[in-house]
Amino acid sequence: MLNPPVRCGTVIRMERFKELSAEIDGLRKKRNAVILAHNYQRGEVQDVADHCGDSLALSQIAAESPADVIVFCGVHFMAESAAILAPRKTVLLPNPDAGCPMADMITAEKLREKKKEMPGVPVVCYVNSSADVKAESDICCTSANAVRVVESLAQDTVYMVPDMNLSQYVAARTKKKLSWWKGFCPTHQLLTAKEVAAAKAQHPGAPFVAHPECPPDVLALADDIRSTSGMYEFARKGAAKTILVGTEMGILHRLKKENPDKEFILVSNCLICPNMKITTLEDVRDALLHNRHVIRVEEPALSRARTALERMLAVPRD
Ligand code: 13P
Ligand code: SF4
Repeated sequence: MLNPPVRCGTVIRMERFKELSAEIDGLRKKRNAVILAHNYQRGEVQDVADHCGDSLALSQIAAESPADVIVFCGVHFMAESAAILAPRKTVLLPNPDAGCPMADMITAEKLREKKKEMPGVPVVCYVNSSADVKAESDICCTSANAVRVVESLAQDTVYMVPDMNLSQYVAARTKKKLSWWKGFCPTHQLLTAKEVAAAKAQHPGAPFVAHPECPPDVLALADDIRSTSGMYEFARKGAAKTILVGTEMGILHRLKKENPDKEFILVSNCLICPNMKITTLEDVRDALLHNRHVIRVEEPALSRARTALERMLAVPRD
């Protein structure tokens, strides 16, 4: 028997899953740890986590958690955000190779150069970025609150980094004058309007929900645009029995689990983020067992990045 039936080679036997999750459970208790998993993680990793969520939800949980140890099953920038918001806790990234190519598309040095060209213009930084880049920014945002964050600023002109697609999505929803860095998520960038149109033609009437990291011509075809956690709400509250999904395939695991009567169709086979798939249950176990890999952010980036993240968390919800 297999559990769970995840694609892209990440299949684990039920016996092995039970064995590892029991080991992880014991270590979690022993170390007073909380395990956080991003919605794109392998199904079995989501299944052992205390909390699954999007970048915003997980950073809030990290900030407020009473645990001594935070095991962050996601990519490097997420564990860094947790280390910034909870500097007295031990933050572990189970697989140190889990990076984000979009975050690597801008450096603090490049951003400093850019800022010289536009004095007084606030920088809004998508959390998919390094601590050093956050430290150079005025405020952070996630895909769940980007429009609200931009709207919260007093200035009429705003610069966004590093995602050009999220920036264009926000620009279409605010009167502020936006310009942006030309970074992108290599996974979402591959999705084409042609693939979406083909999926729509195959499933007439099924709504298409897309992540704002998708290119503008894909978003133009979306019935709704949501962060990953927003997509769970869309699936739960909507009447549609078949939903076309435009984001990384890891989201399907919980969508299917939570909505067994509904069908979720990934609109393209390209929607796999390799970095989100490299963390295994063995990595999670070993992280707790050997206290690895500890993520730390040093001063002065720590305080400056924390200010940018805390400003974001202080923006009122709708
Ligand atoms: P959210 O989960 O915040 O929507 O972000 C998606 C993402 O690409 C994380 O790397
Ligand atoms: Fe980075 Fe895209 Fe992977 Fe998210 S899905 S971690 S933005 S590469």
